Amino acid sequence: MRKNIVAGNWKMNLKRDEGLNLVNDVINLLPSDNEVEVVFVPSFIHLYKVNKMCLNLDKVNTASQNVSKEERGAFTGEISAKMVKDIGASYVLLGHSERRQYFNETNEDINLKMIAALTGGGTVKDKLRPILCIGESLEERKANLVETTLKKQLSESFKNVEFLNRSKATSLIKYIQDGVIIAYEPIWAIGTGETATSKIITETHQMIRKILNDIGFDGQKISILYGGSVNRNNAKELIALEDVDGFLIGGASLDVEHFSDIYNFF
Ligand code: PGA
Repeated sequence: MRKNIVAGNWKMNLKRDEGLNLVNDVINLLPSDNEVEVVFVPSFIHLYKVNKMCLNLDKVNTASQNVSKEERGAFTGEISAKMVKDIGASYVLLGHSERRQYFNETNEDINLKMIAALTGGGTVKDKLRPILCIGESLEERKANLVETTLKKQLSESFKNVEFLNRSKATSLIKYIQDGVIIAYEPIWAIGTGETATSKIITETHQMIRKILNDIGFDGQKISILYGGSVNRNNAKELIALEDVDGFLIGGASLDVEHFSDIYNFF
C-alpha cells in the first residue's frame, strides 16, 4: 500500500503567529479517522515550533524546505540533515523547481542532499525522508522531452544512492521504496493557476513509475504526489486518479479552509 500524503509547502510565507495559527486550525479540523498523512513544510525558522505542535498526533508530520548537502562544519547559513532530523522533522523537500531555478540547484546537488538525508544507520524512521520534486518546463513538454527530462532528474538524483545499494546490499532499495516520496510538479503549473489535466498527470505518473523500474526500484511501491496549482476545486478530481497518491500544495496550503477541504477529499 502506498502512502497518501497532503503536504503544504509554505515557501517564504507566514510570520510565526500566522503559521502557528494555521497549524492549530488545520489540526483542529482534522477528522478523527484521518486517512491521509498531513505534512507541514514551513520555513526553517518555524519548523521546530510547528513540529512540536504535531508531536503525538497520528499522521501529522513536518518537512523542511531544503537541507545542506554538507554533513557539518564551517558552512555559514546552512542547516544539516542531522539538525533537521534532530528537531523531529520527518521529511525534506529536495529539488523543488524554485530551488533549481532561483538558486541554481543541479541534479548533482540534489543527489548530494539525498545522500546527506539518507546517510547514517538505523531504519526508515531514523532518516530524513526525501520528497524529491521533479518536473518539466513548458518548452520541454512542447519539444516532447518530458520522459528524457524526468529520467535525467530521477537517475541523477538517485545516482550515488544506487552506488550505496550495491555496496550495502538490498536493504537500501527497500528503504528507498518505503522512505522516498516523489512529487511530480510540472514547472508550468506551479503558482500559475494552470493545473495539468488528469490525462497528463496519469500519463506522467505512469511514466515515472516505469522510469523508477528502469533504474532498479519498484515504481508501484513508491508514492507519487502531484503538485502545481492544486486547489479545492480541482483536488477531488485529481485524487480519484489511481496513480496520484497525494499532493504537494503551495498557495492553497496557506489558507486553512482551502487546505482542509483538500485533505478531507481523501
Ligand atoms: P502551487 O505550488 O500549489 O502554489 O502551484 C506548488 C509547489 O510549489 O509545490
